[in-house]
Amino acid sequence: APRKDSPLYALLEQAAAYYRQQLRQHPKKARAVSYLKQRGLTGHIAKTYDIGMAPPGWDNLMAHLARDSTEVKALIEAGLVVENEDSGKRYDRFRDRIMFPIRDSRGRVIGFGGRVLGDDKPKYLNSPETPVFHKGQELYGLYEAKQQNRQLQDILVVEGYMDVIALAQHGVTNAVATLGTATSEDHLKRLFRLVHSVTFCFDGDKAGRQAAWRALNSALPVLEDGRHVRFLFLPDGQDPDSMVREEGQQAFEQRINQQAQPLTEYLFRHLSEEARPDSLEGKAHLAALALPLIDRVPGSLLRRLLRQSLAQITGMDLNQVASEAAQAPAAQQ
Ligand code: CTP
Ligand code: MN
Ligand code: MN
Ligand code: MN
Ligand code: MN
Repeated sequence: APRKDSPLYALLEQAAAYYRQQLRQHPKKARAVSYLKQRGLTGHIAKTYDIGMAPPGWDNLMAHLARDSTEVKALIEAGLVVENEDSGKRYDRFRDRIMFPIRDSRGRVIGFGGRVLGDDKPKYLNSPETPVFHKGQELYGLYEAKQQNRQLQDILVVEGYMDVIALAQHGVTNAVATLGTATSEDHLKRLFRLVHSVTFCFDGDKAGRQAAWRALNSALPVLEDGRHVRFLFLPDGQDPDSMVREEGQQAFEQRINQQAQPLTEYLFRHLSEEARPDSLEGKAHLAALALPLIDRVPGSLLRRLLRQSLAQITGMDLNQVASEAAQAPAAQQ
């Protein structure tokens, strides 16, 4: 863990201030400003998420923040400057991009995401792992969600920066994003310290559906009784950003309330697609797939209800399901 007073925090905060200032003052700010407007964002929400702009050019940030090579080294350690291994050349990592500061849950800037203004690749560039930035643990927007809500009830987990921000723009202020990495057990443990309900809402595409199933697998080991995990699947081609812009806050919230599936429902539905439990073979297949997953649920009441549900679906006796569960590792094959 980084020292509490790591000098990187102050440096990253200065970088955020610099990018923020560029979006307001840079002679070429117009393109960035109109890009954000075209994506439906107001100045107010840009301020809430502290959106900035990295100007075009190779060394703007370096020239602004580093006076000597010791300070350049600090920028490299912070992930803001890149050193070419062969030539030794140093240059700003983020150039000509919209900048999203990533804060830890206490509000300290720990890294950045940067988006190109057009269709160039890569679309997003993120800070690398640094002493203060660990992608698998951090959730983009968590600090801002806490700032905007006196009491968080449910947290919505989405894929991207723009999903979080567009949702907030439309009044849905409880979204966080996993920054292009899979949702980890660590992420979920962190969320369940704050709320008792987490809803996943990934993109309506193949990658989003795969991310949902992986998220279910990360969620199983933290499913204590009293915790809720739900999944909202969006229509093909939509993501939370496009969806909320199209239908607005009320319809989006209604969608969550009416269409989000509890994890347990999604689990049986998903496994049934593979096992097709309309024959004895299919029922055995379903039980073989479901039992090892059910066994990973720590909540003993929920685990019992899941077995009961599996018994109903397969027509097995509950006692049989329970005794099979005792040998679950064998059922995995
Ligand atoms: N991502 C990334 N690097 C990429 C593409 C995506 O790190 N080259 C991460 C970003 O955090 C991004 C998220 O994965 O926000 C989701 O990806 P995608 O759906 O492609 O991005 P959107 O947020 O929908 O991007 P936009 O709407 O700005 O086009
Ligand atoms: Mn950390
Ligand atoms: Mn996608
Ligand atoms: Mn998307
Ligand atoms: Mn998008």
